[in-house]
Amino acid sequence: MYSLIYMSAADETLTEEDLSAIWRVSKQKNHAVGITGLLLYGRGVFLQVLEGPEEDITQLVKRIETDPRHCDITILGQQDISRRSFGDWAMAYKTLDDHQTSLLSETLGWDWVPAKLDSLKSPSNPALLMRNMQSILLDSSL
Ligand SMILES: Cc1cc2nc3c(=O)[nH]c(=O)nc-3n(C[C@H](O)[C@H](O)[C@H](O)COP(=O)(O)O)c2cc1C
Repeated sequence: MYSLIYMSAADETLTEEDLSAIWRVSKQKNHAVGITGLLLYGRGVFLQVLEGPEEDITQLVKRIETDPRHCDITILGQQDISRRSFGDWAMAYKTLDDHQTSLLSETLGWDWVPAKLDSLKSPSNPALLMRNMQSILLDSSL
């Protein structure tokens, strides 16, 4: 089992409907191949975790990288995992509020400006990033 996490800059013209279409198709396609994960969107930035068999993840990332609905895909980390963190979700989805964006911004040491994705470094504490992402998914009051 393999896990990959990346951030990207959303196309500025994306609407709520576009976002839910991305989510709907992702859920369907991931379910069919046993990929799970979490997609977060906030202030023009996507943050996504993908989990599944390594070959399937590699293939999916190649497809996602060519998707014109976002750009500047920046891989933050990828590793073998012994168990999934988002096993119950073919693709969980959440729009971030300002508080959650700030929390993740702090965790990443990055100022959350889509145009500055090239200055984003792999997180110094990847476990904390995953924990914060899980908390955001599970607790809307965070
Ligand atoms: C931010 C973002 C995240 C995406 N996540 C997934 C995903 O988890 N699974 C997936 O199958 N497609 C995902 N997609 C959509 C793919 O890029 C692609 O459009 C979709 O898989 C359909 O591919 P196809 O037209 O080759 O069948 C995502 C797209 C974007 C912009």
